[in-house]
Order: sequence, then C-alpha cells, then structure tokens
Amino acid sequence: MSILIKNIKELIQVENKQVQWLAGNDMARLETLRDAYLIIEGENIAAFGKMTDLGRELESSGSRWMKVIDASGKMVFPCWCDSHTHLVFPASRELEYNDKIKGLSYEEIAKRGGGILNSARKTHEASEKQLYYSARQRIDEIISYGTGAVEIKSGYGLTTEDELKMLRVIRRLKETTPVTIISTFLGAHAIPMEYRSDPSAYVDLIINEMIPQVASEELADYIDVFCDRGFFSVEDTDRILNAGMKYGLRPKIHANELGITGGVQVGVKYNALSVDHLEHLGDEEIHVLKGSETMPTVLPGASFFLGLPYAPVRKMIDAGLPVAMASDFNPGSSPSGNMQFILSMGCIKYRMLPEEAINAITINGAYAMGLQDELGSIAVGKKANVFITKEIPSVQYMPYAFGSNKVEQVLLNGRMI
Ligand code: NIG
Ligand code: FE
Repeated sequence: MSILIKNIKELIQVENKQVQWLAGNDMARLETLRDAYLIIEGENIAAFGKMTDLGRELESSGSRWMKVIDASGKMVFPCWCDSHTHLVFPASRELEYNDKIKGLSYEEIAKRGGGILNSARKTHEASEKQLYYSARQRIDEIISYGTGAVEIKSGYGLTTEDELKMLRVIRRLKETTPVTIISTFLGAHAIPMEYRSDPSAYVDLIINEMIPQVASEELADYIDVFCDRGFFSVEDTDRILNAGMKYGLRPKIHANELGITGGVQVGVKYNALSVDHLEHLGDEEIHVLKGSETMPTVLPGASFFLGLPYAPVRKMIDAGLPVAMASDFNPGSSPSGNMQFILSMGCIKYRMLPEEAINAITINGAYAMGLQDELGSIAVGKKANVFITKEIPSVQYMPYAFGSNKVEQVLLNGRMI
C-alpha cells in the first residue's frame, strides 16, 4: 500500500544527506520544503519533493495504487523521538504531589520510602496484564501528540522477578503497539529499604542475578543507573556498567539531576549512548562530553514538576555539544509524555530556538535510542513515522501555542493511526 500526501504547506526536517546528530550551531539548522509532497511505500518513506516536481516523480515511478491525502494548509513533521521515559508504572502518585507543594523535596519524599519505592510496592502487587493495559493507554495518548518512538525503562521492580516482569511488559508493548519501542533495564533505580544498611549487597544482586537473566532473555536494549546523591554512587555505577558491558548492554544513565556527582564522567567512561537529566552541569562535564559519542539529554518536565534548576542548555549548545530532549514520563517527576509541551519548555526555559528544540526531539532523540538511521527525519528509506498537523501558520507556532494539540493525523510504519 502506498500513500501520497500532497499540497503540504511545509515539510519539516527533510534530509538529503543523512546525519547522525546535530550539534552546536548546526542545531539551529532545520531544512524544510514548502508546497511539498511525500510518498510512503509500505513502511518507509519512498520519495519527497516540491509539488511542481510531483508529476515527474509519478511518471518515473510508474503507476501505483495510492491513497491520496490532501494536506493543504498543514505541515508534515517526522514523529517525535522520546528517548527517556518510565511509562510502565502501576499507579499515579498525586498524593506525594501535595507533600511536594507543601515544600517537601524529591529527596525527602524518597528518604521516607515514598517516591520510587512507593511505585515499587505497587508494581509488585500489579499483574503483568494491569501494567500492560495502563501503559498501552499512555502510549495511545503520546502517539496522539506526535510521538513515534519511545524508550521505556524498567526500574519499579527492584527485585529480580519484578524487574523481569516490567521488561516482559515492555516487550509485549513492543510486539503489539505501532510505536517503535526501545527497552532499558533500570534495576539500579533506587535502593530497596531492606538494603539501606548495605547498598552494595543490592548492587551485587543487580550484577550477579538481574543482569545475567535480563541478558539471557534478551529483554533489554540498554542499561541505566540512577547515579546521583542518595541513590547510586559513582563506584556502584562503575561496577554495574562494567557488568552490563560484559553482556553487551550499552549504558544510558541518569546523571547530575540532584548534584554534580561524577555521573557524566562515569557515563562517558563506558561510552554511554546518553547521559540524562544534567540539571547540574559544570564546565568540566561539558569538556568531558565534547568529543565523546554520548548524547547529553535534558528533561525539562522534571525541572518543571520538581522545581529543580533547568539544565544549562544554551551553554551546552554554544560550547558545540548536541542536545536531545525527552519527556521523562513517570509518576514521580514528570507525569506527562506530551512532547509538544516539552518542545515549548525547551524554547522558553532553555532558550532554545524552535529549530534547535525540534532537532532535540527528533534526530537527536533518535540518536539517543540508537535509531538515527531509521527515524528522526524525513529521508528516503527511513521509517514512515510522520504526523500531519492541523492548519498552523508557521513552524514556530508548534512550540509557541503550548497546551493545545497541533497534531491532526499520525502515521506509524506507513499506516494511518
Ligand atoms: O528520571 N530520577 C530518577 N528517576 C525518575 C523519577 C522516577 C520516579 O520518581 O518515579 C526521573 O526523574
Ligand atoms: Fe528518568
């Protein structure tokens, strides 16, 4: 089945020469085509160009049966690539929200056994089926806002059995939903109460039991550690990443959310695909990231929701780094997976240009999942995960009009959703 989308007011982020990521000044580069067409064949993008060249394209490619969509007044974007979420979780945590509003910090809530441990207790009680169906609803919702690829972490299990349960749910979501899913093992998300007096015993459990089982069932694409104050130390992280490496699990880690803790350095040491959060980032961390293959990833939803400082994104881009942005969709620090809102926050809170922010949630987000050859831009041969907007006046309107859904029609794997 092929689809022709014609009369596109502006086709966003077309790539004639594919790139791995965009960094520094290049992040402000966003190629677009006005008055364009896009042809999808099967699951992939087959051709695109100016409407004036459509006749020639149709002639040269022979007669094909096509579904035609008229996108007059509308734009077409590559779907968002959300490279950091925890969207499999058993229940919301709005009761902690009140404590937070009254002034309790994320760390104080966690110390009292709330936070991640609260979700872990409920994950233990939940069935695979319950976890699957609630996550599926969240996936339907994020698709409606334009997400076409998403990374999902375990990390609310914190026992071997419950971590595997979460990863099996993620595998089932991969098999049964149209969105592209990447799975990350995050056994090192919090130290369970019973290990508080001996955290290294929990690290041993992760290394000796969890990682081998996750690897033998091929349940994860990547491995994560919450390397931060009050959670896992740099030494713990080093041990876990080293063990993961032996099983071919590349890291994508939580770093520098609560302080300057050495998380970036240990991530880069193990050639992490990404280091995420970075609310606290000094010149040294920027220096370490320069020249690495690690994508610095920022999560404005967490800063917004927890009242944390915002990552120094302007400084990072001006220093020549690439930056990806993700939702961090989770019940404790960012209970939304709406990437259009993330885009708006990127512009207002990080002072990214709309072009930079769009690149941060498309091609750079794709890189942060290892999907840059498949997704993240409009390029011939890439997977046809695209959306058609409502009638909008300009590209800038996408981040500008925060709070309303500007997406009208999503296509995933070349099919209308
Ligand atoms: O990325 N920082 C650690 N993990 C999540 C929060 C998870 C939770 O609170 O449930 C985050 O913000
Ligand atoms: Fe997170």
